[in-house]
Amino acid sequence: MESSHVIEINNPKEVEITSHDEPALHYHEGVRRKSCSNGEVEGNNINGVCLTWKDLSVLVRDGQTGKNRAILEGVTGYARPGEILAIMGPSGSGKSTLLDTLAGRVQPKTRKSGDILLNGVKRTLAYGTSAYVTQEDTLITTLTVCESVYYSAQLHLPDSMLKAKKKERAELTIKEMGLQDSMDTRIGGWGAKGLSGGQKRRVSICIEILTRPKLLFLDEPTSGLDSAAAYYVMSRIAKLDQHEGRTIIASIHQPCSEVYGLFHNLCLLSSGKTVYFGKTSSANQFFTLNGFPCPNFQSPSDHFLRTINKHFDEHIELGSAGMKPTGEVINALIDSYKSSSTYKEVESKIAEICKKGDVEQDKKKDHASFLTQCIVLTRRSFVNMHRDLGYYWLRLAIYLALSFALGTLFHNAGSSYSSIEARNSMMMFVASFLTFMAIGGFPSFVEDMKVYEHERLNGHYSTGAFVIANTLSATPYLLLVSVIPGAIAYYLTGLHAGLDHFAYYASILFACMLVVESLMMIVASIVQNYLMGIIVGAGIQGFMILAGGFFRLPNDLPDPIWKYPLFYIGFHKYAYQGLFKNELEGVKYVYNDAGVQNVVDGAYMLREKWQVEMGYSKWVDLLIILGMVVIYRMMFWVIIIIVDKVKSGLMTLFQRSKRKKPKLRKKECNAHFSFVILKIRNFPMFYNFTDLVIKSP
Ligand SMILES: Nc1ncnc2c1ncn2[C@@H]1O[C@H](COP(=O)(O)OP(=O)(O)OP(=O)(O)O)[C@@H](O)[C@H]1O
Ligand SMILES: [Mg+2]
Repeated sequence: MESSHVIEINNPKEVEITSHDEPALHYHEGVRRKSCSNGEVEGNNINGVCLTWKDLSVLVRDGQTGKNRAILEGVTGYARPGEILAIMGPSGSGKSTLLDTLAGRVQPKTRKSGDILLNGVKRTLAYGTSAYVTQEDTLITTLTVCESVYYSAQLHLPDSMLKAKKKERAELTIKEMGLQDSMDTRIGGWGAKGLSGGQKRRVSICIEILTRPKLLFLDEPTSGLDSAAAYYVMSRIAKLDQHEGRTIIASIHQPCSEVYGLFHNLCLLSSGKTVYFGKTSSANQFFTLNGFPCPNFQSPSDHFLRTINKHFDEHIELGSAGMKPTGEVINALIDSYKSSSTYKEVESKIAEICKKGDVEQDKKKDHASFLTQCIVLTRRSFVNMHRDLGYYWLRLAIYLALSFALGTLFHNAGSSYSSIEARNSMMMFVASFLTFMAIGGFPSFVEDMKVYEHERLNGHYSTGAFVIANTLSATPYLLLVSVIPGAIAYYLTGLHAGLDHFAYYASILFACMLVVESLMMIVASIVQNYLMGIIVGAGIQGFMILAGGFFRLPNDLPDPIWKYPLFYIGFHKYAYQGLFKNELEGVKYVYNDAGVQNVVDGAYMLREKWQVEMGYSKWVDLLIILGMVVIYRMMFWVIIIIVDKVKSGLMTLFQRSKRKKPKLRKKECNAHFSFVILKIRNFPMFYNFTDLVIKSP
């Protein structure tokens, strides 16, 4: 390279470094690079987090072929305090997978091997030390920018910090990300336009840098941003907390020259393999030495990506231009890198970091106490439920319409013997179909779950706080949607007079809605897809309604499955029986039998005609339903914990067996992987595969 081009930036803090071999690079003072004469980053001496990874591979099991496919293969590298490592590569090259793996996030169906060390040792980072801005923005769409960041500040920052300070930190961070003009704009989502994609990206970054983490993972932080915004965002990230060493690892698609100039190290991936890892300033030289010099006036990052992108090979006429197929180019670069001095330098740097050891233990940053988490999450969730029409308001409108419909259909059912059938049918509809519609809020809840999942992975609050907050914030809305439509249907039909009877009826309706919401929480923890979740939830309720003892009386229910356990474990039995008792107990009905007037007791009708269990009071039915609410919510909590444990347990199992047999060949690796899968799916086969693995060398 002979020439260099100079980029002018009118910022006195910017330091320009020009070289005759390299395009002009601009480094920010905050990055502390300029002060080192030997090209080493001064931040190396700063206490912080050194992350190293060696021979990192990630295999994924192809669902159709059943074969393992490597999405990361033998990747080695490091990230040090005060430096920014850029991970670049064509789409699908494994950038997000590398970030996920380094951040300790296990993707489903994947298997990891290789070592990831923090300051040279294997340990997990304390809360607040690391943060991860994922590729997809997971934000509460109904909140404004200011609210989103401020609620997060209250959750992420310790109780010991004054509220005013938290607000100040939130506002400062918003300004640092250039969002001051959009403070009061709602994030927006499906159905409601709010922030642009690039602004959402910046809100996500704001939220994660509130705690000023020492290790920051950023997946495509500049996607959706124009080149100027991308530069300012990246330079502010690099500048934050200049006196503390921050280790930043960012995957990036197409950095402009200024942004590229902010990076210290570059990890270039292609199909999960390292094409280059080393100083950004040496990357150009590496490509030049291998016969791919960066053309004049072309950004080096664009040149690298163009050279290693093989996705469009078949559409380019290679032969005519005398070009090599990209696959061959990539293989040549990978081989050249493996035998280069740069690779050896990387290995020696890793060894040096490991030798230095874990001198400075990271101190756990405090986050909000459990009580504060519950209060803040309840408030945030309440606001979200209020603003999201799909959560409760739409349901309230439909309930009102249905209640009027019920009221007109059963209007003034009367108090005669013949009205019993009509009253019970009306109550059955209320207890099953009206509550059935609580699944309508499932899409909104799934959105909440995504935010919760994201925040939980970053360790901001506990599952317990989420469950409590969701229950508390939903309660007023559920009361509203059960009492108002319930009252309309109750009084239009002319059910049992008396406020106490209505109160019981409304309580049953409220408890049933809580149960259905709790059931849908469990479904959402397993199936995070709107359509599938609604189908599964509706299916489960369909079975419960059928087994509730209305369509088939309890004694007529077939014993296996329908009666035991479905009749007893479904909430419908208790709802029907509680409501029937509430309506008929203590009432006498007169009926005409061949001209003779007879009086029949409501309790007799309940026992003989409706086969209601009369050994206990209607309040026990209500208590059982409320007990179910508690059990279902605890089940949701336990399922999330179990899913986490199973995930990390499987990982540990893989890691242990890998350590015992480090030289498993590819074929045996497949058997090894199958062994764990089959252990879960098919217990007897477990022994055969254990033999196979134990016998393997
Ligand atoms: N859990 C998984 N199961 C199956 N395949 C996966 C899984 N995770 C990643 N992959 C595959 O691994 C490859 C790399 O994915 P990854 O998301 O890391 O790419 P990327 O470089 O981040 O791409 P982009 O720039 O488009 O975000 C892709 O082909 C993807 O389909
Ligand atoms: Mg990605």
